[in-house]
Amino acid sequence: MGKINPNWGIATKAIHGYGPSDPLTGAVSVPIFQTSTFEFKNAQHGADLFAGEAEGYIYSRISNPTVDAFEKEIASLEGGEVGKGFASGMAATFNAVMTECKAGDSYISSETMYGGTHAMNVHVMPRFGVTAHEVDATDLNLVEDAIKKAKNCKMLIFETPANPTLSVLDIKALTDLAHQYNLKVMVDNTFATPILQRPLESGADIVMHSATKYISGHGDVVAGCLVSDAEFRARMMEDVFIDTGGCMAPFSAWLLLRGLKTIPVRMRAHCANASRVAKFLAFHPKIESVSYPGLVSHPQHELAKKQMSDFGGMVTFTIAGGFEEGKKMMDAVSLAKVAVSLGDCDTLINHPASTTHSTYSPEDRAAAGIAENLIRISVGIEDIADILDDLNQALRQL
Ligand SMILES: Cc1ncc(COP(=O)(O)O)c(C=O)c1O
Repeated sequence: MGKINPNWGIATKAIHGYGPSDPLTGAVSVPIFQTSTFEFKNAQHGADLFAGEAEGYIYSRISNPTVDAFEKEIASLEGGEVGKGFASGMAATFNAVMTECKAGDSYISSETMYGGTHAMNVHVMPRFGVTAHEVDATDLNLVEDAIKKAKNCKMLIFETPANPTLSVLDIKALTDLAHQYNLKVMVDNTFATPILQRPLESGADIVMHSATKYISGHGDVVAGCLVSDAEFRARMMEDVFIDTGGCMAPFSAWLLLRGLKTIPVRMRAHCANASRVAKFLAFHPKIESVSYPGLVSHPQHELAKKQMSDFGGMVTFTIAGGFEEGKKMMDAVSLAKVAVSLGDCDTLINHPASTTHSTYSPEDRAAAGIAENLIRISVGIEDIADILDDLNQALRQL
């Protein structure tokens, strides 16, 4: 009973993808192995585990059965060989880049990224002698030029749909291009989730998630993960992960497994509500522009239709005015919670220029298309009438 079948549909994988029930007790919910260390059978067993000549657990910074179950589950959903859990999405990204790049190397990053990833690119990596070249990845020629100019270029990283502009990048075209130059390709799939988009199927090498978001779905955990082939994961474990300690906690893994069981249902509800919000805003007189990959007005709508099975739960828009008007909108909402993060059941609203993307200089924000009056909504799964009423009353106050 309980064997993983790779041919299962995505909703079945979301529930059973971590494998059989606990072999010791039959517990259907994966037990939380809240232990830091694991007792060896004897001295030789300990030595064999350390030498990699026996399979088993040593210490939860390296691996833990609850975290393993989550890793199997996310790998199954993304269609990859193996997963790895991390303390946060940023820990996942940092480990992936540090596995591919050492001092003197460089990588290419899309210029429109989560603010923390941008900060890692421009502030953290140079401290280790690693250079990130940020480029408009909607233009393949610019990406190819950047790859050609970069010294010891090892990797291409991008997110699609991108935070916060919701621009959509062509996973297959970018991957094919990067592979011509032997680069590893990592896609941040946080906004789409494996329910709507599976980058490994388009040839990408690594998928990254801020599992804090839709993977959890309930706003109660900070976590991250990577899905890749076994070779990459083994190299990462050996070269970076084990000795830098960005491990996922067992309780976080359990919360994520619980969240994943409902992710297909939640994503359906998020997409349906977000589509209604996008259409409502598109016709509102106080709105300058709306970005939602499902709108025909979205510049990459056709591409989004091709590479995503639905358009996600995130909507961004600009209101008449600038930075201050953007902040005013935050104070006018009542149901929506003014908060960073996204992907929760609750509707969350955010003004990126003053919060998540304040890590960009105003010039870099402009270059990345992050307007000062841009507002990002993570549309929740409340009743759509209540979400629309709230936005309507907030816009009336402006
Ligand atoms: C698209 C995206 N990637 C990565 C991250 C970083 O993840 P975490 O906050 O879990 O470290 C975030 C966080 O907001 C994000 O939105």
